[in-house]
Amino acid sequence: MSPRAEIGVIGGSGFYSFLDEVTEVTVDTPYGPPSDALFLGEVAGRTVAFLPRHGRTHRLPPNRINYRANLWALRGLGVRQVLGPCATGGLRPDRGPGTLVIPDQLVDRTKNRVQTFYDGETRADGVVPNVAHVSFADPYCPSGRAVALAAARGREWEPVDGGTMCVIEGPRFSARAESRWHAAQGWDVVGMTGHPEAVLARELELCYTSLALVTDLDAGAETGEGVSHAEVLKVFAQNIDRLRGVVLDTVAALPTERDCLCVNALQGWDTGIELP
Ligand code: ADE
Repeated sequence: MSPRAEIGVIGGSGFYSFLDEVTEVTVDTPYGPPSDALFLGEVAGRTVAFLPRHGRTHRLPPNRINYRANLWALRGLGVRQVLGPCATGGLRPDRGPGTLVIPDQLVDRTKNRVQTFYDGETRADGVVPNVAHVSFADPYCPSGRAVALAAARGREWEPVDGGTMCVIEGPRFSARAESRWHAAQGWDVVGMTGHPEAVLARELELCYTSLALVTDLDAGAETGEGVSHAEVLKVFAQNIDRLRGVVLDTVAALPTERDCLCVNALQGWDTGIELP
């Protein structure tokens, strides 16, 4: 039987592996190859596929990640619920390094990313998708968020329940003026990969939950040198064990039956695509 998984974990900067005992599976998709092989394992009886978002050696910057291939590959393995741990910058002094935010909103400030499967463009396999407009008022799965919040509390890491993630194009960090502007909008954290991952998951009727670890105060919220990738990786490394623990507990507690809004995201649309 071909390998299957019910839950997907897409690990960001500093999160390049998840489970010890894994089967490595290479897959291709109508959108090209995903960021890396998928690593399949088991947590508390649940089957999990881990995918390092930037590739296991961090060879892909956020703007070159094939987000469509990543989500399609996960769905093709049977995944229906996706967890997206990622590194973010805090836009407020009370969202400092080490804070875990489970965002409930997102603002897309990216500039040049394919953000739909339903673009009317002929795919490599000759299939022509129709246009579809999914609802995205609530970008994240409410059930997944609730489970992730409980998992963090269970590990005595009080998370921020909700908040807005601003997603920039990258790979550079924000200028101070950009950062101040993001903060002035009332947004909480800034990252580079949250979009289009969440919307593409929704377009495949997958549940998607973001777990945003704050690794730094973004340029406008601090007076120092500004953010560096070294700082991001250092703080991520300091928090990886407890973040991995929260992801493990979330995987174990995700509902086996889905009854959230994500399940019927395509209802009423003839997309012209058969989902894997
Ligand atoms: N990832 C981690 N820190 C970040 C920041 N300050 N801006 C954008 N992405 C980040």
